[in-house]
Amino acid sequence: MKFFVDTADLDEIRDLASTGLLDGVTTNPSLVAKSGAKSFIDLIAQICELVEGPVSAEVAATDYQTMLKEGQKLAKIAKNVAIKVPLTPDGLKVCKQLSDAGTMVNVTLCFSSSQAILAAKAGATFVSPFVGRLDDISTDGMQLIRDIVQIYKQYPAFKTEVLVASIRHPMHLVEAARVGAHVSTIPPKVIRQLYSHPLTDSGLATFVSDWKKTGQTILNAA
Ligand code: E4P
Repeated sequence: MKFFVDTADLDEIRDLASTGLLDGVTTNPSLVAKSGAKSFIDLIAQICELVEGPVSAEVAATDYQTMLKEGQKLAKIAKNVAIKVPLTPDGLKVCKQLSDAGTMVNVTLCFSSSQAILAAKAGATFVSPFVGRLDDISTDGMQLIRDIVQIYKQYPAFKTEVLVASIRHPMHLVEAARVGAHVSTIPPKVIRQLYSHPLTDSGLATFVSDWKKTGQTILNAA
């Protein structure tokens, strides 16, 4: 499974990129606003320099013509930009046009299997179903991931990858991996939670203290 980080915070991206585990980045207008960046174009350019994989940059307009122009402009920033468009009739028209021109497209705000089928037919590189926001309204977000993964498997011609979005905790990620989703976009805090286990901490403390009793150092050994 590919790991994308769901943030527009350059320091976070720099730090997580250094782990070597990061395959891409997703941003959205809310995350860009939170970052405080003065220039969206510069921000995306800087992220694209930090990460080799796809960097999602979302259009701001909602009508076909303006979204298309925005998408074409954003696509020129770097080769690894994926244009994020909303799952609307106009958004999917833009998706088809940009995809046909060889640009990566991430169709966002997906909340149903029928929408995911349309995104695949429109040639999306990624479809982003939002699990956390469905859970928030007492609907099983992960069931949507299971359904989309299963549906896409029936049609080898569908090349769209399922990008699990709106992840809120480690078990969202684990379940997404269990059902075979291609990508998860994960908030930095949740990425850090993935490492944690109390038995790792206590086990390591014991090994460190027992090693001291040997009086040896590996680096100074002959
Ligand atoms: C990413 O592509 C989505 O915009 C993001 O995961 C949404 O997350 P949220 O529901 O926590 O805002």
